[in-house]
Amino acid sequence: MSAFRYLIRALLVCSLLVPASATARKADAELPPIIDYRERFLPVVAREGMVVATERLAAEVGKRILQQGGNAVDAAVATGFALAVTYPRAGNLTGGGFMLIHLAAENRQVFIDYRETAPQAATRDMFLDENGEVDNKRAFSSHQSAGVPGTVAGLLHALEEHGTMSRKEVLAPAIELAEKGLTVSFSLNYEITARGQRLRGNPEALRLFFRPDGKAYDIGETWRQPDLAWTLRQIAENGRDGFYKGEVARRIAAEMEAGGGLITLEDLAAYRAVERTPIRGNFRGFEILSSPPPSSGGIHIVQMLNILSGYDLAGMGHNSAAYLHHLTEAMKLAYADRSKYLGDTDFVDVPVAALTDPAYAARQRRLIDPDKATPSVDILPGRVLAAESLDTTHYNVVDSRGNAVSNTYTLNASFGSAIAVPGTGMLLNNEMPDFALRPGHPNLFKLVQGESHAIEGGKRPVSSMSPTLVFRDGKLWLVTGSPGGSKIITIILQVLLNTTEFNMNAATAGISPRIHHQWLPDQLQAEQGISPDTVRLLREMGHDVVQSNRTFGRTHSIMLQDGRLYGATDTRRPEGWVAGY
Ligand code: DON
Repeated sequence: MSAFRYLIRALLVCSLLVPASATARKADAELPPIIDYRERFLPVVAREGMVVATERLAAEVGKRILQQGGNAVDAAVATGFALAVTYPRAGNLTGGGFMLIHLAAENRQVFIDYRETAPQAATRDMFLDENGEVDNKRAFSSHQSAGVPGTVAGLLHALEEHGTMSRKEVLAPAIELAEKGLTVSFSLNYEITARGQRLRGNPEALRLFFRPDGKAYDIGETWRQPDLAWTLRQIAENGRDGFYKGEVARRIAAEMEAGGGLITLEDLAAYRAVERTPIRGNFRGFEILSSPPPSSGGIHIVQMLNILSGYDLAGMGHNSAAYLHHLTEAMKLAYADRSKYLGDTDFVDVPVAALTDPAYAARQRRLIDPDKATPSVDILPGRVLAAESLDTTHYNVVDSRGNAVSNTYTLNASFGSAIAVPGTGMLLNNEMPDFALRPGHPNLFKLVQGESHAIEGGKRPVSSMSPTLVFRDGKLWLVTGSPGGSKIITIILQVLLNTTEFNMNAATAGISPRIHHQWLPDQLQAEQGISPDTVRLLREMGHDVVQSNRTFGRTHSIMLQDGRLYGATDTRRPEGWVAGY
């Protein structure tokens, strides 16, 4: 086949598998074909800048900001505000998350923790009924489910400290989308319809998300959000005070009072985003940076990579039974430690250095039987000192100066608590159940969490969100992250192994079938695509393999190689978008 036809065919495959903006495809056509087209899934290529997000309009907002001369942080903040308008199941002003930034000129990385905090009035047993049982409805779908929102403080902190544009400039596209309206896409219609029952249960959510006749907006119809536009304007004009004080705060506090929630005006005024030191680790010469506490992600990704570095994984073969067995055993050990040691470091001593110490991993490796599954009941959290449908969304930005942002934020469940704050266009998060509602009792993600996860006023619940950066020979090489609740950590682990150990490009690494084990329940969950022969071998080793048609998370990645940006959104969910130029 001629080089030209080869390139055209590859571009065609690429456009079918990975949606791309027209400009990204144009940029691709101008570049020499250095992708290895023998791989089954291909990333989108661009040269200057790129935004990879879960939704097209918001990704294009970020790209436009880059093209106007904004840096990666400006674009990430604009994309974050735009997703609050275009992707209401997880994009938000009222949730929380983590942003990991690479500042190329200083070769410095910054981690912004804007996780929600428990309101001051929150107590350890607040979700227990008179029999001491967890009241699930109150925990997941009530005004009490909400933590004090962190998103606005986090995005504005990023902009003020590390951005170059004004608040008004980065908020303008989101305001316009909310005010003028957006054309309802297949996935927006699907998301609102699928969650229709929950959203209709709240009169304000019914008014916001449905037509006056009570039906969901159809594909192709225009959906306007004037209340949300008003809230965004308060932020554009008054900064964090426009959200945490003033009329928006009053409306949140009034709704809390009306609905028996705990968040007060004082809680809102006291909220702060915090810069923390990212977790660092090494695997086969790659440097990995990811989330520190209150996320558990970075610690356990590094811990598992440390354990797995002692094996010839490539020799075992990608997704072979031997490989998946070793992965599973490492996952169990890490999640057992998560239950005992992780917490908000402002309240709990987390032994970060010990958990990420290669010497500890070497000791843990000795607990792994190469041929047999160790039952979770026999795995206790290590003695370190001696030694869906749920939702979240991740996006990445890289700019022409080499700055990068990896951002994951969430309302927790899809559309959070599905309770809207009247007159603001916003839904409340339901992040409180990320705490141990009763230590030792499984949470929303069936995670069993111990005392360090107990509820306390002002504390941040442990998260699994893991925006991640990988450096190769000192240069930024991969920007990645995913939603997926408790699975986020194992999803990112597998993306890192796929790219570093198995040499996959960003698209193939994201799309490959995944597994998950979180210690308890003692089940090896496998996506479709893990072969029945492999499943049989794993069962023979003693693993309780559970396979269903549910998919695990949805990764967005940008790989930087040879002066190009290779972006990929995995196809587990519809309408992800790579906007490059
Ligand atoms: O912070 C956490 O770990 C969870 N609240 C994230 C929720 C999530 O990823 C749901 N999405 N799929």
